Amino acid sequence: MSNILIKQTENFLNENYLLPILSNLSSLYYNYLPDISWAGFYLVQDNQLILGPFQGKPACTIIQFNKGVCGTSYQTKKSQLVPNVHLFPGHIACDSASNSELVIPLIYKDRCIGLLDLDSTSLNRFTIDDQLILEECCQLISNKIGSLL
Ligand code: SME
Repeated sequence: MSNILIKQTENFLNENYLLPILSNLSSLYYNYLPDISWAGFYLVQDNQLILGPFQGKPACTIIQFNKGVCGTSYQTKKSQLVPNVHLFPGHIACDSASNSELVIPLIYKDRCIGLLDLDSTSLNRFTIDDQLILEECCQLISNKIGSLL
């Protein structure tokens, strides 16, 4: 399963336009991974995290670098696997039905250029295996889109 996800990610990276790439990838993760209620990207712009292509309910447009799970991932440049978002201090509830979350930073030339954010209505939805596979996908994504931004 992990190989398929990485292969499909690579397939969508075979073009040179940012919006179609990220749109298709958000659809891939939303539809292919089970039990996901939101999948999408935030991109760094004007010293903030700005909502990018996503699948799921409408979400917060702007997130400050020091706010929420996304801000923590941005600041630490580390993935944030949150089994229960209600126990995460400062979690931003775009959708009150969300219960667990996985955020993976997009790192290009040592800088965080954006984030992949996945939400689930289930508690404990995300595993370390999910994190490792998606980190591999995000490295491929960063290498590609870093040169397109
Ligand atoms: N929960 C995130 C905000 C983004 S939404 O989940 C789409 C956070 O705490 O940063």
